[in-house]
Amino acid sequence: MIVLGIETSCDETSVALVEDNTVIANLVYSQIQIHKKFGGVVPEIAAREHLKRLPILFSELISQTNINIERIDGIAVTKGPGLIGALLVGVSFAKGLALRYKKPLVGINHIIGHVYSNYLAYPDLKPPYIVLMVSGGHTLILKVEENNNVTILGRSVDDAVGEAFDKIARLLGLGYPGGPEIDKISKNGNPNAFNFPKPKMYDPDYNFSFSGLKTAVLYEIKRLTKSGYSENNLPIPDLAASAQEVMIDVLLHKVTKAARDNNLKNIVLAGGVAANSRLREKIRALSEEFNFYIPPLEYCSDNAAMIARAGLERIKSGENDGLNFEPVPNFFE
Ligand code: KG4
Repeated sequence: MIVLGIETSCDETSVALVEDNTVIANLVYSQIQIHKKFGGVVPEIAAREHLKRLPILFSELISQTNINIERIDGIAVTKGPGLIGALLVGVSFAKGLALRYKKPLVGINHIIGHVYSNYLAYPDLKPPYIVLMVSGGHTLILKVEENNNVTILGRSVDDAVGEAFDKIARLLGLGYPGGPEIDKISKNGNPNAFNFPKPKMYDPDYNFSFSGLKTAVLYEIKRLTKSGYSENNLPIPDLAASAQEVMIDVLLHKVTKAARDNNLKNIVLAGGVAANSRLREKIRALSEEFNFYIPPLEYCSDNAAMIARAGLERIKSGENDGLNFEPVPNFFE
């Protein structure tokens, strides 16, 4: 079965063709360079860029793969959560194709899409498992049961962890997106140089809070500049590495607690922050107790292959959402 995937929830325009667990092609156009100068994604610009890029990317996909659209078995599009204007572009485009070519169409939850990115790398992965979903917009711990039922066990009560990476990077004068910048510069820093608070680490629930860490970093910068450091000689690698360490430690503490409490050994990572090299390194120390599933780097950030793979499952079982569904910006609310 071949499914066309379409993803336009935030700042990546992506189309993909997936045949069972094999990605035939996954084209991603990132708008990062456009949003960089604003220090974050501008929703209106994102929607306009999707509108411009999506038809071009789709034509490229068809000509590159030489797969006639008549041959595909169905279409899967991100329905939410995401930026409403951005989502509307993808959903409208997908509906147009479904109508014109009489194909089944399913609207996919972006978060579930991220979870499914793991099936592209680990075809034998099966629920039940715990998911740590860590992106610029979400920080969630989910439980996926045998029947694919998804329960939210925990979430961030304020900033998402990727957002915290981005905001802390900005405080440290690093570029956007901040996650990869902090990841890189932290390799030259001491993770124990600063003792930042570990927010909610020992609370009995599985929730997170990251906005206080950003404030702690800001106060530390102020303290350092008062005590003689100039803006140009701040110990940026140490500050970055120490802040990163707190975020990674809290994430791993909570997700392993959720797995232990639920008697589950399998932990699935998803989302852009899953690309973090310190996170990947620290996971190795836990690999005797848990089996970690980490998506390949190319499928960590937003892409249409994961959406197609999630849709494939539903289209295979005969589902079709038709043309009457709307995008939902806050899918889990
Ligand atoms: O899943 P994603 O590509 O997009 C959505 O948020 O939907 O995640 C993007 C987030 C950004 O906040 C970015 O800074 C973060 O993932 N990120 C990282 C790394 N690579 C991307 N955070 C930490 N370490 C990284 N290596």
